[in-house]
Amino acid sequence: MTTGQLIVVDHAVALLSAAAWFAAGAAVAARRARLALGLLGAAVLVTLVRVATVAVLAGRGWWFVQEKVLLGLPMLGVAGAAAVVVAARRAPGVVAYFTAGYAAAAGLVVTLVAGYPLSWSTALIAVSAVGGAALLTARVVAAPGVAPPGAAPPAGDDATGHALARRRFLGVAGGVVVAGAGVTGVGLRLSPARPVATGGGTGPSVTGLRGAAAPAPGGTTRRHTLSARTATVRLPSGREIRALTFDGRVPGPPITAAVGDLIEVTLRNADVEDGVTLHWHGYDVACGEDGAPGVTQAAVAPGGEFRYRFRADQAGTYWYHTHQASHRGVRRGLYGTLVVRAGEDHNGLDLTLPVHTFDGVTVIGDRDGRTDRTVPGGTAVRLRLVNTDSDPHRFALAGTRFRVAAVDGRDLNEPGEVGGAALRLPAGGRYDVVFAMPDAPVALVVDGDRAGGVRLLPEGRADAGVADTAGWPELDLLRYGTPAAAPFDARRPDRRFTLVLDRGLAVVDGRPAYAQTVNGRGHPSIPDQVVAGGDVVRFTVVNRSLTTHPWHLHGHPVLVLSRNGRGASGSPLWMDTFDVRPGEVWEVAFRATNPGIWMNHCHNLPHAHEGMMLRLRYEGVTTPFHGHHLG
Ligand code: C2O
Ligand code: CU
Repeated sequence: MTTGQLIVVDHAVALLSAAAWFAAGAAVAARRARLALGLLGAAVLVTLVRVATVAVLAGRGWWFVQEKVLLGLPMLGVAGAAAVVVAARRAPGVVAYFTAGYAAAAGLVVTLVAGYPLSWSTALIAVSAVGGAALLTARVVAAPGVAPPGAAPPAGDDATGHALARRRFLGVAGGVVVAGAGVTGVGLRLSPARPVATGGGTGPSVTGLRGAAAPAPGGTTRRHTLSARTATVRLPSGREIRALTFDGRVPGPPITAAVGDLIEVTLRNADVEDGVTLHWHGYDVACGEDGAPGVTQAAVAPGGEFRYRFRADQAGTYWYHTHQASHRGVRRGLYGTLVVRAGEDHNGLDLTLPVHTFDGVTVIGDRDGRTDRTVPGGTAVRLRLVNTDSDPHRFALAGTRFRVAAVDGRDLNEPGEVGGAALRLPAGGRYDVVFAMPDAPVALVVDGDRAGGVRLLPEGRADAGVADTAGWPELDLLRYGTPAAAPFDARRPDRRFTLVLDRGLAVVDGRPAYAQTVNGRGHPSIPDQVVAGGDVVRFTVVNRSLTTHPWHLHGHPVLVLSRNGRGASGSPLWMDTFDVRPGEVWEVAFRATNPGIWMNHCHNLPHAHEGMMLRLRYEGVTTPFHGHHLG
């Protein structure tokens, strides 16, 4: 079973155990003794199953079970044991059974809203909530008319008077303890988070960290002016989309260069209300060119402009997009491709294919529906697949064997030929696929849509339909290509950071929300990751949630070390975005050689907006901007 499936099973068992305890309590209250006994047995059984699922889950990593082992199960264990003792003494037990139910439910709630890491405030609030509910239940049960047989009759003689006084005292004392714990817990939770310093320090400001001003010898300057504006774009099918565009086009104008050229882009904002920036996704520009609003620059408001300049010194397939309110802006069209070629033009077919979804319609490049191209047999073909959406896409290339020559702009080492394998691109990811055109049609199928996609047809050949690619296995890049030495020793990193991704209650941009969290917090209250120039930095990225999180660090590609404890065994794999699926644990590393303050976030852009974003900051680097922004 995958860890993701185990997490679901554990949620289900937790829910079932709460239900069983409540049902047992209800049966007692209804004076159905035999039914109550049966339900008690079921509750105990499900509770033991729960212990087992948590034990198995613990084998996948402490992050998945910490709050269950330290709080949920002990609470349930104590309450459940008390209920069993009460039952063994043949006492009525309504309160005890219900309390076990509260404990089971509280454990599940803690898992769903607080998660990892467990804090004192969470523990205090949970325990006081269970205690409070138990006291309240006791009061209701003791109330006239509800009292079980054998309960004290109204005060009359001295002895029962004492018993009543004692019970009242216990109730009040218990109430005080419970309230005290609750108030302390809430107080701890509301106490101001550790301030996140982005303004302090004595080092350079991000605004001084700018790109080169001239091309390398022999290079040329590629000048573009991109004007961000709303426009209605008509797709080949006739469908019209109300888009946010660069220059009225979707995608924005392609930017291409050769290694050594200078890229100079002036961004203007005509009428995009949210404001706009340009982020060069995957391209390791100097920090001042990175386009992170509120951190490396102010967002460009309508009427404003900003000039980006950097040298094209990495060949490969990249893309650019706005980073201001990107969950809206990118989705609606504020993106384009950036392709840097290594040298002289390769004379074959070189297609850049950004895939984007507009209102449920897949658009490849600037076309919806199916695109046909005539390609002579023998032509060297390179397809640059780019996923510009927030969800993964599955690509299948039918009709030819192929190689994945590059991932996220970086060449793989000796990639082997594959066929009949699907390619899953994370949000923001790019794969370069190469092959020699056969004398038969080749089809690029996206997400199983055989009526759409791209057809490459040899001259004079009609399309003959596409094989069903739905059952093709996914190519696992961690086992693809040939190993080679890494440029640093990731076994002895200078800094290590763990990022546990989940959902939960957290403050996002000053407001409480059911957020997408990192280590239980939301942007901008997630502490900065601080590194020094030259450090080897290692990330452990853990997904406790039930959705995929495409993790993306700005300014640095990361070397993938392992997934779920299993080392990468293929070509060195450098990625700028890697999909951490539910229950997965990824280890990645990089060397800190690009000073600045860098966003580090989930590239499911709505997730970033809902809190899943933090900063990686080089010691001493400062920003004159307010220091945070929302995706
Ligand atoms: Cu492609 Cu921070 O983004
Ligand atoms: Cu995410």
